[in-house]
Amino acid sequence: MPLENGELARLTPTGVEVYDFEGHRLRKTPRTLNWNPVMVEKQGFKHYMLKEIYEQPGVVRTCLEDYLRADWEVNSPFSPVQLNLDASLLDNLQHVQIVACGTSWHASLVGKYLLEQVAQVPTSVQYASEFRYAPPPLLPNTLTIGVTQSGETADTLAALEMELKRRQGLEGAFEPRLLGITNRPESSLGHLVPHIIDTRAGIEIGVAATKTFVAQLMAFYLLTLELAWRRQSCDRPRLMELVTGLRQLPAQMEQILESQERYIEALSHDFAETQDFIFLGRGINFPIALEGALKLKEISYIHAEGYPAGEMKHGPIALLDAKVPVVTIAMPGSVFEKVLSNAQEARARDARLIGVTPLDEAEAQHTFDNLLPVPEVDELLSPILTVMPLQLLAYHIAARRGLDVDQPRNLAKSVTVE
Ligand code: AGP
Repeated sequence: MPLENGELARLTPTGVEVYDFEGHRLRKTPRTLNWNPVMVEKQGFKHYMLKEIYEQPGVVRTCLEDYLRADWEVNSPFSPVQLNLDASLLDNLQHVQIVACGTSWHASLVGKYLLEQVAQVPTSVQYASEFRYAPPPLLPNTLTIGVTQSGETADTLAALEMELKRRQGLEGAFEPRLLGITNRPESSLGHLVPHIIDTRAGIEIGVAATKTFVAQLMAFYLLTLELAWRRQSCDRPRLMELVTGLRQLPAQMEQILESQERYIEALSHDFAETQDFIFLGRGINFPIALEGALKLKEISYIHAEGYPAGEMKHGPIALLDAKVPVVTIAMPGSVFEKVLSNAQEARARDARLIGVTPLDEAEAQHTFDNLLPVPEVDELLSPILTVMPLQLLAYHIAARRGLDVDQPRNLAKSVTVE
């Protein structure tokens, strides 16, 4: 049964009693969650985080089965996705604004790239904790999206509540359009926001978000396809390419897990004593560089920074020497050559270069010292693949350092305080 604000629960040997703050007993109707004990077992994995990394191909598969129409083809008169979102939420949009924290904020940055480049909707992404105290001017025909895997992050909820109130106070064109992207539709977010994309990743126990991040990325792919379809911002053959590419992702993700985990585990020995890491990416993979750095920081306690590769020369390059490994995401596409050249600049400063790239060894030997290969894929879909070696790298470095990977110090799974 969901506990509302102003209620408290007393656990007894026979059940649960719910009261308001004046001590009155409340009648609540229990709700059965679709969970089972197997979901919360480690199933032979040493840590939940590793199990959850391995669950990611299945998460993407579920998402595709649930939300992508199997019968969609180039000439279909209907949208390739079925999110069951009202036209009143999505039609005539002029602007999308997204609020989120942490890893959900990184997923939102990928979302911004997709919404702007494919659906052609101007999109802003804000930390919920900043948005609350410096909200942007109200614009009409704006979709506000709250992204939170737990649905309980205090800053994200407060930002959305504030936005709802601001917009409810106004008439007509400022009609509130609110959407939540969450893994917990029964959460406080689900109570607050009338429209939800349920990411259906299953319970995530590791404090470091992995499968819920990939599921949030999937939600943004689906929303982007839906909007691109409605706005006719993308031609049908291109939509078909993206749909086909999405369907190939689970097998490609499995390929990464099969081919790389042992290598990354061995590589992690080299970094057990490392104190600083830099992660570089550009375009749609810049947020993945941020996410790789965050994963490493939170579970291994190694200082790490994610940077847009082109910005290195404006300051951070001064940090580089042989003691600072640089992980660079270099995927073929709009910024491929640029990223390779940024990586070479880092190598010229003696940094050890680790490449997340589909380049083979012969092609990569002039740029990278170590390769974390990922299959060649449409650049727009690549974040789902490029994040996986970074999750594995963070996991294995932390495990090698003997740290509590699933419950890192000072962190909680849901940050329910401001
Ligand atoms: C992710 O690894 C972190 N533990 C953290 O940044 C998290 O993403 C953030 O607190 C937001 O959580 P939410 O998605 O539940 O709102």
